[in-house]
Order: sequence, then C-alpha cells, then structure tokens
Amino acid sequence: VGFVSEDEYLEIQGITREQSGDYECSASNDVAAPVVRRVKVTVNYPPYISEAKGTGVPVGQKGTLQCEASAVPSAEFQWYKDDKRLIEGKKGVKVENRPFLSKLIFFNVSEHDYGNYTCVASNKLGHTNASIMLFGPGAVSEVSNGTSRRAGCVWLLPLLVLHLLLKF
Ligand SMILES: *[C@@H]1O[C@H](CO)[C@@H](O)[C@H](O)[C@H]1NC(C)=O
Ligand SMILES: *[C@@H]1O[C@H](CO)[C@@H](O)[C@H](O)[C@H]1NC(C)=O
Ligand SMILES: *[C@@H]1O[C@H](CO)[C@@H](O)[C@H](O)[C@H]1NC(C)=O
Ligand SMILES: *[C@@H]1O[C@H](CO)[C@@H](O)[C@H](O)[C@H]1NC(C)=O
Repeated sequence: VGFVSEDEYLEIQGITREQSGDYECSASNDVAAPVVRRVKVTVNYPPYISEAKGTGVPVGQKGTLQCEASAVPSAEFQWYKDDKRLIEGKKGVKVENRPFLSKLIFFNVSEHDYGNYTCVASNKLGHTNASIMLFGPGAVSEVSNGTSRRAGCVWLLPLLVLHLLLKF
C-alpha cells in the first residue's frame, strides 16, 4: 500500500479509507543525515451500517436491538419507532452507544414494544439508516412457510384417529 513520491508533495487522488495511516517523509541532502517525519493521514467517510440485528422476544423478557455502523469520525446513533424519535431515558428502555455500535435494550418487553424500529447513524459527512424488527414469538409462525405447517396438520389426523382407537 505504499505511495512513493520523490517530490516535496505526495498527492493521493481519490483516496479511500483503506489508505488511512502513517506516511513517512524523508528529507536529505549531501551535508546532513536524512530527516524523517511521520504524517498521519485520516480519511473521513460517512457512516454505513454493517449490521442491523433484530430479535424475537416473548413478553416479559429482555430484548436487544443492535445496530453496527462504520464511520470516521465515528457515528452518532438515533433510534426511531415508526418515524417517531425514541427519547432516551424512557422507562424500561435504554440506549447504549459505543463508537461503532448502538444497542436499544428493552428490560421487560411488552406487547406495545413490538414493531419496526429504525436506527439512524450520522456524522458530519452524512447519515444512513436501517430498519430493525422487535417481534414476539407469535410473529415467527407468520413468517414461517405455510407449506410445512399444512404438512404438520396432515400428520396430526392419523395420530388423532389412532388415539381415539386406543381409547376404545
Ligand atoms: C414486566 O412487566 C409486567 C407488566 O408491566 C410486570 O407484571 C412484570 O412483573 C415485569 N417483569 C419484570 C421482570 O420486571
Ligand atoms: C420498516 O419500516 C421501514 C421504514 O419505514 C420500511 O422501509 C420497512 O419496509 C419496514 N419493515 C417492515 C418489516 O415492515
Ligand atoms: C431512512 O432513509 C430513507 C432513505 O434515505 C429516508 O427516506 C427516511 O426518511 C430515513 N428514515 C429516518 C427515520 O431517518
Ligand atoms: C416454502 O417451502 C417450500 C417447500 O419446502 C419451498 O420450496 C419454498 O421456497 C418456501 N418458501 C419460502 C418463502 O420460504
């Protein structure tokens, strides 16, 4: 990943975030030993969300939604539910922010907590968002494939008949 320039200037066009790092500049002439200086180059970029993790939680349990974003400078996070901003310090809900990660924690999930949440990550260069679901155990069967459920019922019928036969 070296850039070499014999010039007084090193110009990097179309710099990417992978090209962040330390660069070394060495100056020498015939008289003195070379002088070396290090220059740290930071590439800023707007956030992108690398992971948005929803979860299925029964009522009364703890649930965590997780949103991971990469950005320089590091992202600030905000959470929305159905386009309404969640206010921090709401009872039973906590937002835990780290430079690259935000967690929305429900200490005791209730029926009305279920739904579609949006995580917004922003820095001075831009913002992006992702939607994350908090769903109950009932929602799992809605998503699951109808074919397999019907197949399950077909098996149930002979079992019921057998059960009845055994009773007599
Ligand atoms: C969770 O909330 C329900 C309803 O408000 C309450 O009955 C229950 O005791 C709570 N559970 C915990 C662990 O706080
Ligand atoms: C959640 O909300 C977002 C934005 O309003 C929408 O694009 C997305 O389709 C919704 N997801 C679900 C599963 O309803
Ligand atoms: C999420 O991003 C979409 C597309 O850029 C935008 O229309 C929407 O308003 C954003 N939602 C929030 C809550 O910022
Ligand atoms: C439903 O199940 C069938 C058979 O197992 C499969 O071919 C199909 O792709 C599934 N559909 C979805 C939406 O998962």
